[in-house]
Amino acid sequence: MKKLIITVDGPAASGKGTISKHIKKKFNFYHLDSGLLYRIVTKEIVTKKINFKNNKDLQIFLKKLKKISLKNQSGLRTLTMSKLTSKIAKFKKIRDFINFNQKKIVREKLKKFKGIVIDGRDIGSVVFKNAQIKFYIKTNPKIRAKRRYKELIDRGEKSIYDSVLKEIKLRDYKDKNRINSPLVIPKDAVIIDNSKTIKTTKKLVDSFILQKIS
Ligand code: C5P
Repeated sequence: MKKLIITVDGPAASGKGTISKHIKKKFNFYHLDSGLLYRIVTKEIVTKKINFKNNKDLQIFLKKLKKISLKNQSGLRTLTMSKLTSKIAKFKKIRDFINFNQKKIVREKLKKFKGIVIDGRDIGSVVFKNAQIKFYIKTNPKIRAKRRYKELIDRGEKSIYDSVLKEIKLRDYKDKNRINSPLVIPKDAVIIDNSKTIKTTKKLVDSFILQKIS
């Protein structure tokens, strides 16, 4: 079987991660969460107090960073980090750096795995335009906020549903309206509505993949 690249794009908290983890497990693929890379770089910027709006400072920072370490993942999913990541993700220099790293990771992992599933915002539309299977996940914003709110509470974090909904809508706006790689539905993507149960979504996704690879 030819090595397979599956892209899963969609707005914040649409369930991309859950769906991608499911594909990884079911088909024994490698899973790359591109949002995580944006969050890791953002955390580095915050920790090192980099003035990311200054072109020169950003350039020096990225040159020193060289590659993204997937090791320390604590404190990446707070509301503040999510907001900040979305602000930082609009810079072309950041996106080029992350895309370069993503492609390198994918090349390496495809030596070992028969397929890779990558989730994000621009994976099927920009980064891996040649992917054999592209999914776009759409989910009602209120359902997304409810799920994200529960996730934060379960993790023991303080959370207010209205703030979560507001943050999700703001992030949608920012991700869809930026100049560099805005969130769009790739023209050859299969649109999956994940507003019902995850079981329904998994069935849909599985049947599509199985039909494609058989
Ligand atoms: O997917 P996640 O919510 O972790 O992504 C965090 C933020 O990173 C998004 O709101 C978006 O601004 C940015 N992102 C991006 N392109 C990707 C993945 C994430 O711009 N491929």
